[in-house]
Amino acid sequence: MRTEQPKMIYLKDYRVPDYLIDETHLTFELFEDHTLVHAQLVMRRNPEAGAGLPPLVLDGQELELLELKLDDRLLSAADYQLSDSHLTLQPTQEQFVIDSSVRIHPESNTALEGLYKSGGMFCTQCEAEGFRKITYYLDRPDVMSKFTTTLSAEQHSYPVLLSNGNPIASGSEEGGRHWATWEDPFKKPAYLFALVAGDLWCVEDSFTTMSGREVTLRIYVEPENIDKVQHAMDSLKKSMKWDEEVYGREYDLDIFMIVAVNDFNMGAMENKGLNIFNSSCVLAKAETATDAAHQRVEAVVAHEYFHNWSGNRVTCRDWFQLSLKEGFTVFRDAEFSADMNSRTVKRIEDVAYLRTHQFAEDAGPMAHPVRPDAFMEISNFYTLTVYEKGSEVLRMIHTLLGPELFRKGSDLYFERHDGQAVTCDDFVKAMEDASGQDLTQFKRWYSQAGTPLLTVSESYDAAANTYRLQLRQSCPATPGQSEKLPFVIPVELALLDARGRELPLQLVGEDEPVGRSRVLQVTQAEQAFTFVGIAEKPLPSLLRGFSAPVKLSFPYSRDQLMFLMQHDSDGFNRWEAGQQLCVQVLQELIGQHQRGEPLVLDPRLVEAFRTLLLDEALDQAMVAEMLSLPGEGYLTEIAEVADVDAIHAAREFARAQLAGALFEPLWKRYQANREISRSTPYVAESAHFARRSLQNIALSYLMLTGRAEVLAACLEQYEVCDNMTERLAALAVLVNSSYEAEKAEALKAFAEHFKDNALVMDQWFSVQAASTLPGGLQRVQALMQHPAFTLKNPNKVRALIGAFAGQNLVNFHAVDGGGYRFLADQVITLNALNPQIASRLLGPLTRWRKYGEQRQALMRGELERILASGELSSDVFEVVSKSLA
Ligand code: TRP
Ligand code: ZN
Repeated sequence: MRTEQPKMIYLKDYRVPDYLIDETHLTFELFEDHTLVHAQLVMRRNPEAGAGLPPLVLDGQELELLELKLDDRLLSAADYQLSDSHLTLQPTQEQFVIDSSVRIHPESNTALEGLYKSGGMFCTQCEAEGFRKITYYLDRPDVMSKFTTTLSAEQHSYPVLLSNGNPIASGSEEGGRHWATWEDPFKKPAYLFALVAGDLWCVEDSFTTMSGREVTLRIYVEPENIDKVQHAMDSLKKSMKWDEEVYGREYDLDIFMIVAVNDFNMGAMENKGLNIFNSSCVLAKAETATDAAHQRVEAVVAHEYFHNWSGNRVTCRDWFQLSLKEGFTVFRDAEFSADMNSRTVKRIEDVAYLRTHQFAEDAGPMAHPVRPDAFMEISNFYTLTVYEKGSEVLRMIHTLLGPELFRKGSDLYFERHDGQAVTCDDFVKAMEDASGQDLTQFKRWYSQAGTPLLTVSESYDAAANTYRLQLRQSCPATPGQSEKLPFVIPVELALLDARGRELPLQLVGEDEPVGRSRVLQVTQAEQAFTFVGIAEKPLPSLLRGFSAPVKLSFPYSRDQLMFLMQHDSDGFNRWEAGQQLCVQVLQELIGQHQRGEPLVLDPRLVEAFRTLLLDEALDQAMVAEMLSLPGEGYLTEIAEVADVDAIHAAREFARAQLAGALFEPLWKRYQANREISRSTPYVAESAHFARRSLQNIALSYLMLTGRAEVLAACLEQYEVCDNMTERLAALAVLVNSSYEAEKAEALKAFAEHFKDNALVMDQWFSVQAASTLPGGLQRVQALMQHPAFTLKNPNKVRALIGAFAGQNLVNFHAVDGGGYRFLADQVITLNALNPQIASRLLGPLTRWRKYGEQRQALMRGELERILASGELSSDVFEVVSKSLA
């Protein structure tokens, strides 16, 4: 907990470290009521830092210093200075060895940062600045060291002892204890250190790398979960193969381990050779994990594995460069998932997520560039901007260079910087050097925050057969950045004729057409492109595949959107046209609701959806995506002032109308798919994901009709299925229905059956927390008393409180302010337990400017109450103070 107001840290103040640590030798003695850590640091003056011997300032927090030696000389209190956060001493030579012994308390660490206990096991989380809670160190990513680690623990309770690298020795001690020593031959920053001790079982497999080396693969879990590991193991082997084929990257150690832990602040962590995962991102089998969970496991396993090169072999110079590893690695895992499953569906899901959540962040008080230039608490910058927008920036480089030059650039980057801690500029430089392209202006994507708006208008000259597109870009002010310079915006586009065929694209001044779908580079605030040889007025298909993370404005009519929905050859843009049509129709309904008029649904939406349902040739996953109306979160994001109740009423009205009008085709497709699901064993593959997603979205519409045969089908699906995807979907629609008896019965049966499976109970909490029926807050408050709930487990907090505040918008934003007060209370409690989770939970309150006056005042009131509630962590303080500024 902070004792003084946290300071801002600036990128411009970066200086190379005064000292380096060549070797780090750690010993951990793990006990039930404390742990002893001995660290031997082989250090020297950094030759790049200048002359002289400045004081050595080691980071350290919540450590009880027991002993300190400099070159074997015992130091006394007069020889060093100790504060809450640092240990300072004076070296007398260029090279020296520091030995420290400290006592720490993992058994009472609820922040889940540093060394802590999850259930019966010891584990670590050191990124970003957790290592300083383990021992005194230079806890910064540009200090890279070779580590050896010895851990000892009681043998019976902790039979498995793991750390980074390769095991080199082990043995037993007196008194039922044992020890093991691990050596990591690769230099690494402290944030990649890991240790695990516990009673774990593992599944073992192996992978032969492209150069013929055999790597042992192990996934460690609690014994009762050993039946849920195969999917993660398959995903790991696919990832290793993909990274060899697509990036030429081979794994480097003889062993790669994953450990699943139940209490974890994020998804997973790429510690060298010893990835530590939130169990929600490892465990998956048909009966307990949904299709979405299976896909998430595959993606997170890939993400962490890919970090071995993009993050570990080449790491970040400082935490401002976080997107260097995260943006790149998200881009890599997204491409992997696209290759393993449906590319178009993956893109649709990612864009829908980005536009709802990252665009909101970029328009709010915490908006920051992909490479931030200041922070108080780095944990607050593991954001959608750094991860998802960062990935979009990489995707744009890929689009601008093309796949071959991009690969040449990534090869150069890895070769040039292997073993180094580098910056985003170094990455871009490698791309420039490999491609010969100048990316100077492009780099504004790293330094300017905010979502650009791209406004496009057209004019057609029938006499000259020319078609002109006029593009204008602008970017709203964000905190600390009032003026923005133009971005480089790659706009992929096609021009469609009246039958939906792509026209050859020849710009004025070109000798011949250059393809039928091409990427234009918008580099100026205003720019026009004129196409020649256009014999009829075309319909543009713009920003295909979402080629840049911008808001696009073009005055499409509803009929044009319906045409694109059916004829655009770019699958993403077909979906996008459908979404824009839905947005127009929903915004009309929102207006009607606000004016107190009767709601009337545009019948064209019904017809568009009917066409989709009747199109048996269209990929079923695409049909499911296109039948999904834009979420309330997205409608909030695009509204000037979000009217929560009107948005909810309009969307629910549209859903009910569509369900009523399309009962026949919905029912037909539901039954056909359900029949196959009933007679086919569960398979976690994309054709099966597609079938179940259409089946389940059809069911969610059908339940709105209140027909008895639908209820019967829903109950049957709930009871007779071999997988969580069908079971949870049926439960969710029941929970959102008014069939009170059936709902209560299903919820009870579900909880009884799955009470011992924490991850399944998370879903049970989430489904109820997200139910938009009246009384949401009371239901959530009651569920907080459920024996399976605890504020100490981040997954539980996210499943119940996070789902309520983030997804149940009508209930959370109830005008009596109850939802806000509840969330603030939880943040205040969590601030003392787990600051990272407390700070993340605050997200929905920080968006107060989006709402009407009454809600604004209530939300601000709660933020002020948090600020006044006592000693705040730097995590919560930064978010609350910036939100109120
Ligand atoms: N590097 C991790 C990732 O792959 C992020 C992460 C895991 C993390 N656990 C964390 C960041 C705890 C901060 C705190 O994305
Ligand atoms: Zn990552």
